[in-house]
Amino acid sequence: MSKLVICDHPLIQHKVTLIRDKKTSTKDFRELVDEVATLMAYEITRNLPLQTTTVETPVAKTEAKIVAGRMLGLIPILRAGLGMVEGVVKLIPGAKIGHVGLFRDPETMQPVEYYTKLPTDVQERQLIVIDPMLATGGSAIAAIDSLKKRDCTQIKLMCLIAAPEGVQAVQEAHPDVDIYLAALDERLDDHGYIVPGLGDAGDRLFGTK
Ligand code: URA
Repeated sequence: MSKLVICDHPLIQHKVTLIRDKKTSTKDFRELVDEVATLMAYEITRNLPLQTTTVETPVAKTEAKIVAGRMLGLIPILRAGLGMVEGVVKLIPGAKIGHVGLFRDPETMQPVEYYTKLPTDVQERQLIVIDPMLATGGSAIAAIDSLKKRDCTQIKLMCLIAAPEGVQAVQEAHPDVDIYLAALDERLDDHGYIVPGLGDAGDRLFGTK
């Protein structure tokens, strides 16, 4: 079974509380989501392999560690996933970025992929699928399905807030994918919103409501 990691550093919890607040402006919401993404990236990259190199300081030559060339790929799910990308890129500037666009078919309620653009070497990369809200899990599962169809094997999922229903659905569909959250909330309401959540992440990021 995959790992579920709640990144509950005090700074993350503090910022998530501000993000939840309906009085938080679009500008502040965007900045806070960006900051939380950076803090979460620190946790997600905790196990990156290191290698030894030689470095010459002003004082002496020494052996020291650097990240062992593990290539990363960030895969935001459009559109709300975009709000967390820059925060991660700040820590991992060499990461390539792919995009997956999904909408929900109003009749079947199933996610339909309308756009996919991935790095050409995506199969060789450690991928982080990014979506702020893990509600039913439908979009995350579809995005991961899409990556696996393209022979990607190293995939993690990064979300701001999840409902238990979404976590369970992803774990059942993709037991090999570790999930990183800033908060695990109570439940979904009848409209598929996470309770207490933060409302519609896309609308709040882009000021469309
Ligand atoms: N998507 C959102 O933006 N918010 C929710 O609460 C659930 C899905």
